[in-house]
Amino acid sequence: MQTGLVHLHNFLRWVILILLLLSIFKAYTGWKGNKVFSASDKKIWLFTMIASHVTLLLGLYQWTFGRLGIFSIGLNMKDPVQRFFQMEHPVTMILAIILITRGYLFSKKDLADDVKYKKALNAFALALLLILVAVPWPYKAAVARPLFPGM
Ligand code: HEM
Repeated sequence: MQTGLVHLHNFLRWVILILLLLSIFKAYTGWKGNKVFSASDKKIWLFTMIASHVTLLLGLYQWTFGRLGIFSIGLNMKDPVQRFFQMEHPVTMILAIILITRGYLFSKKDLADDVKYKKALNAFALALLLILVAVPWPYKAAVARPLFPGM
């Protein structure tokens, strides 16, 4: 089960990235094109938030009881791999998920549509940047992980 959950966490990275890019596209074109905020914009932003929250739950499980979890092997900030997966990765990703949530919540606020688009665009773009920085990409020597589950 542990391996399956890590695989799912790995795979959801792509779901989040695709949805986040779509959300950014919707926010940017909405803002630049002076569009009227639509139900389809809101839906994409909502799905992005849901995907990020599911990834957060899986991440919290890995962080506590997973093979690198603090209750499985303890907390060790001196070891670069543990520091990455127990501190740097979770903190950066939680910040990104807060930003995605904030971005979605702008859809519910009583704001002019162009302001809604612009504020959401800023939140989503920053979230994307944080995620790109904190993913354990295959080129990140010590913490490298596969691009796709089970590779
Ligand atoms: C946008 C959110 C996130 C993304 C895109 C993401 C992405 C990833 C990826 C791609 C891996 C490598 C999986 C593999 O080995 O195949 C990973 C591992 C891990 N992530 Fe995340 N993550 C996110 C959020 C979180 C959060 C919020 C936490 C903790 C609270 C977390 C904790 C972990 C841990 C502990 C591992 C190592 C699992 C292991 O190898 O046993 N992640 N994450």
